[in-house]
Amino acid sequence: MNIVYLNGVFQPASEARISVFDRGFLFGDSVYEVIPFYQGVGFRLEAHLERLRHSLRAVRIHTELDWHDILQELVAQNGGGNMSVYLQVSRGDVGERSHDFDEAMAPTVFACCQPIANIYTAGTAKVQPIKAIVTADVRGHRCDIKSTCLQSNIMVLQQARSQGASEALQVRDGLLTEGTSSNLYVVRQNVIYTPKLSSEILGGITRQLVLELADEHGIQYQETDIDYEQLLDADEVWISSSTRAVVPVVEVDGEIIGDGEPGPLWAKMFQLFIDFHHTLMTGRGDG
Ligand code: PDD
Repeated sequence: MNIVYLNGVFQPASEARISVFDRGFLFGDSVYEVIPFYQGVGFRLEAHLERLRHSLRAVRIHTELDWHDILQELVAQNGGGNMSVYLQVSRGDVGERSHDFDEAMAPTVFACCQPIANIYTAGTAKVQPIKAIVTADVRGHRCDIKSTCLQSNIMVLQQARSQGASEALQVRDGLLTEGTSSNLYVVRQNVIYTPKLSSEILGGITRQLVLELADEHGIQYQETDIDYEQLLDADEVWISSSTRAVVPVVEVDGEIIGDGEPGPLWAKMFQLFIDFHHTLMTGRGDG
């Protein structure tokens, strides 16, 4: 049975109810996280919770629960395997639709999970390289907040799908920002380039780990501007997100990237992720 968490209660998904006046529903007035758990162990859990706190502070929703306990219990009640956990906090509901809000109102806290494959134990050979398109970034200017207002992201993802691609890389003022649900990297001459953190992109937890692992293993990187020409001229292009780690992009707008195969630096980085996961699962790492 699919068990979800809603406002303090673990219950079957089919029984969970949220008000029609919930501001998450009416205004997209809510924030969220997606966190992978492998055999009950959260992958970069603390970093995800820190980002959740950042999003909550930014939108002035005031709540702090024992997130660890809630998520561990949710995963356990759903069988404890490999799960993608979704956690959403909306501003809540005061029984009517009104743009105004009272900061004292009680938020709606919802979490659910769904089984995922363990990409790390599956190994490098199982990773499918992807094709991407480039589209205008028409989102607002607070992309550092992990908001559920994702309509423009899903519209451009759909556009990518209709063109046979599986991610849309977005451009604002001539510079690449990120994918619809992923961060972006280009590689040239063994150096990783990725857009610098700002309110124009989400501070990806996987991005943070890519840069940490690069630091630890002497791989050079720069957080910098990337334009369309640099993207197409790259030796390698990658995207990253929590449930996918790093994924090679081998075609952009119909143009082949590098030699059209996943590149050697991507393979090295993915192996570093596999090693990191192994250390975490054998109890020698802190996630
Ligand atoms: N999205 N940029 C955007 C716009 C995202 O939505 C995401 C993740 C990322 C990567 O962040 P992280 O490495 O922390 O997962 C970057 C999640 C997975 C989602 O919306 O389902």
